[in-house]
Amino acid sequence: MKGIVLAGGKGSRLFPLTKVTNKHLLPVYDRPMIYYPIQTLIDAGIRDIMIVTGGNSAGDFLQLLANGKDFGLVRLHYTYQEGEGGIADALRLGEHFAEGDSICVILGDNIVEKSIQHAVEDFERQGGGAKILLKEVEDAERFGVAELRDGKVIGIEEKPKEPKSNYAVTGIYFYDPTVFDKIKTLKPSNRGELEITDVNNAYIAEGRLTYSVLDGWWTDAGTFPSLLRAAKYVEQSRPEYEED
Ligand code: DAU
Repeated sequence: MKGIVLAGGKGSRLFPLTKVTNKHLLPVYDRPMIYYPIQTLIDAGIRDIMIVTGGNSAGDFLQLLANGKDFGLVRLHYTYQEGEGGIADALRLGEHFAEGDSICVILGDNIVEKSIQHAVEDFERQGGGAKILLKEVEDAERFGVAELRDGKVIGIEEKPKEPKSNYAVTGIYFYDPTVFDKIKTLKPSNRGELEITDVNNAYIAEGRLTYSVLDGWWTDAGTFPSLLRAAKYVEQSRPEYEED
């Protein structure tokens, strides 16, 4: 399985922090944000990784990450998203990299506490389709929200005003190679983006989407409160952390 980290987009919810740099280069406690999703893939045994980035500071990723030495890698792949056409638009650029393999996609602003290796193994056994990871949250209206029935996801709504459950769809997704054909059929949403939620709903329509509930803490880091929360979670998970 190959890994794709999506690190494009404007990061407009973090203006002016993101006026001259890319959101995923901002610090989360003691590391640049992008380090965390890359480490999550590596801890799950995925070492063939591509970064999708965009915007003005794209060159800074190369300077920061180079060939992935900090992660014990000998090479990293990069691609450039022109504009901010959405998560599925960024993922579209991974087709040539995937070369018919299945992929684990992680959003560059998603940070998790525990290993996702079990989910990787489950998806490998699944033999195709898609898998998403859910997490119970108090502010589900900020996320894609899963509607569950009889142990299955029967639909996902993107940022619903009245969420049908408390289960947010986290930014970690597993797909078989048909994902790229599905992206080609998408139309931009009301916010003008190709939505990953529409990709997931296409798998649900085929009856080929499974889910697991993520273990440990999870947060995005794309708003001021969540960026701060991410730093606090990371601080508390460091071995040397002691509360006063
Ligand atoms: O964090 C999980 C949530 O992420 C999911 O619950 C939602 O279903 C999903 O749509 C997404 O919601 P956001 O509105 O928070 O996504 P955002 O626009 O902040 O983009 C998240 C990451 O995706 C961002 O850190 C980089 C990447 N991205 C985003 C866009 C719009 C790109 O690479 N290119 C893009 O054009």
